[in-house]
Amino acid sequence: MAGQLSVTDFFEDFLKKQPLLVDKKVLQSNYAPQLILHRQSQIQQIAAILAVSLRREKPSNIFVYGKTGTGKTVVTQYVLMKLLESASAKNIPLKTVYVNCKLKKIADTEYRIIAELAKNLGKSVPATGLPTDEVYNIFLKALDSTEQIVVLVLDEVDRLVDKTGDEILYNLTRLNSSLSKAQLSIIGISNDVRFMENLDSRVKSSLGEENIVFPAYDAVQLVEILRERAKIAFRTNALEEGMLEKCAAYAAREHGDARRAIELLRVAGEVAEREGSEIVKSEHVDRAEERIEKDTVLEITTTQPKQSQAVFYATLLMPADGKKIETGNVYEKYKEICAAAGLSPLTQRRVSDLIGELDMLGLINAKVVSKGRYGRTREIYINIQTDMREKVQGKLKEELGL
Ligand SMILES: Nc1ncnc2c1ncn2[C@@H]1O[C@H](COP(=O)(O)OP(=O)(O)O)[C@@H](O)[C@H]1O
Ligand SMILES: [Mg+2]
Repeated sequence: MAGQLSVTDFFEDFLKKQPLLVDKKVLQSNYAPQLILHRQSQIQQIAAILAVSLRREKPSNIFVYGKTGTGKTVVTQYVLMKLLESASAKNIPLKTVYVNCKLKKIADTEYRIIAELAKNLGKSVPATGLPTDEVYNIFLKALDSTEQIVVLVLDEVDRLVDKTGDEILYNLTRLNSSLSKAQLSIIGISNDVRFMENLDSRVKSSLGEENIVFPAYDAVQLVEILRERAKIAFRTNALEEGMLEKCAAYAAREHGDARRAIELLRVAGEVAEREGSEIVKSEHVDRAEERIEKDTVLEITTTQPKQSQAVFYATLLMPADGKKIETGNVYEKYKEICAAAGLSPLTQRRVSDLIGELDMLGLINAKVVSKGRYGRTREIYINIQTDMREKVQGKLKEELGL
């Protein structure tokens, strides 16, 4: 495309081609699918618990848990939508309030979240300044202003508790005793499967009156979920045989994650479209996977605290000659980096914890090995593709001001 004319030709050609993706929003994360597959049992369990609200009784609190992308949010919202439909058809005063606790500025303090809940019930609270008790009172009044059942969904509630502690859950589950007209039920949703284990036992028993688990999908189920979406998102015959299976296989590698599967399908479609391909092929899925992988690695890298970045950088600077990387060597390098970056170095023990966190994030693999009477150490392997390493190293250097 040297001159102006060829660009025009390019645009003309582009317009002549039928787009592969005809309805891209179907593959976006906030799309509510018409058909939810393989979740009949969870839908029924939640519906059965909430149904009593149609007889004006308070439903039990529910704790919903399962790994990311297992359909917790979509299923909960679907059942609530249906419940609201039935309630309004029968003139039953029912309200639902949904908050995603991962949102900053909404759920990072007890004050803010209760203010947000009050706002959802139509009462505004100043952004700061009131005593927390007073904010609770405003919320309580809003709730109890009329006879009604309110179902409160705290999605990604584990994030809330990380930030504020579990006192807030205790307070919320106890609110009913102060209500005279309204009744409050809580649905807590967590991506962290072990979240409940660490809660105060009073909170555990009151929030988890009912527990519903969402298992990961298997690859076959993911293919079916993808096929439903693909039917709407792509023009007919746009997909190469076997490419949905490939998306599903990638998405099932860690745990069957529908979000990941759908994202792969979307990015594969975009890659194919940009290349001017007539159909979306398996190789486009490979490229999509690479792209998503790279984006995630960079995103995780740049959002870590400085100390973690220094530890990660030290690990990446270890000689890549196939020798095992040991914690002790990383620690020496880390101290040099701290000196250069003006950070005060943490103890080796803390650094060892940070290495564990990097492992959890999937950036490295740190295997604990026993060295007999010399105690235990970690053998570290780097989990980043070689062609990404330089880019990540560059980013870290920049972040650390080196
Ligand atoms: N059973 C299903 N059928 C159709 N789409 C699904 C199903 N489960 C999940 N999805 C889709 O996958 C993505 C992730 O689901 P979501 O409910 O957000 O997962 P979670 O809340 O468990 O992390 C969403 O786009 C959702 O629409
Ligand atoms: Mg969710």
